[in-house]
Amino acid sequence: MRADEIRQLARRSRIGRGVSVLDLCCGVAGPGRLITAESGCRYLGLDYSASTVEIARALAGDLPCRFEQAHVPPLPDGRFEVVLLLEAMLAFPDKRVLVRNVARALEPGGRFAFTLEEGRPLTPRERARMPDADTVWLIESAELTAVLREVGLTVTWQEECSASHHATAVAMLQSLRADSAEIARQIGARALAELITAHQLWSEWLGGGRVRKFALVAEKR
Ligand SMILES: C[S@@+](CC[C@H](N)C(=O)[O-])C[C@H]1O[C@@H](n2cnc3c(N)ncnc32)[C@H](O)[C@@H]1O
Repeated sequence: MRADEIRQLARRSRIGRGVSVLDLCCGVAGPGRLITAESGCRYLGLDYSASTVEIARALAGDLPCRFEQAHVPPLPDGRFEVVLLLEAMLAFPDKRVLVRNVARALEPGGRFAFTLEEGRPLTPRERARMPDADTVWLIESAELTAVLREVGLTVTWQEECSASHHATAVAMLQSLRADSAEIARQIGARALAELITAHQLWSEWLGGGRVRKFALVAEKR
């Protein structure tokens, strides 16, 4: 996500000083660190990758961010005012289980702020082309809205960001190609080839409307 998109989502989900924020699948917490630095929220980031959590902690420096290594679901005990899930909804094959856990972790009036890769599930042919296809589970908008409604979450804001995410995927593809020798030296030729294939597919799908990207906020009644 671009910084302006992250700021917009933070504003729409009313993140501010002292607001408790749980960031699921935080990665190295680029968005989480930006939001914490600019809002003064109380931030907890979770990711199942130990090395990623270690990097996130080091990058956070003196920021009042907390991180834990955890596989979600389940979610930690406690009530949060905001749950974030950025660029990771597609990793969950069962959105119903995830969203039910999110609803439980939110206090009444709490907000679930997330990005969504929207579209029909991948066909077997598309799955065969996509590296790590077991982490790519698309869902159609109507189905997700119904799943949210079932657990008491109502969409209060949404915005399509397919064009900017397409532009980012294209720019990343160009960079991967331009710096391919150095990247291959660091991560290996096979991992680089997979990254290039994945970015090619995302560029194609986002550019051609096969997948659409949205930022949303859903509120707990
Ligand atoms: C594409 S990154 C997104 C990182 C971050 N949210 C961002 O927007 O920059 C997805 C992250 O989700 C983590 N992840 C995927 N499935 C997970 C799960 N079930 N539990 C915890 N972390 C998970 C991965 O380790 C990875 O760091």
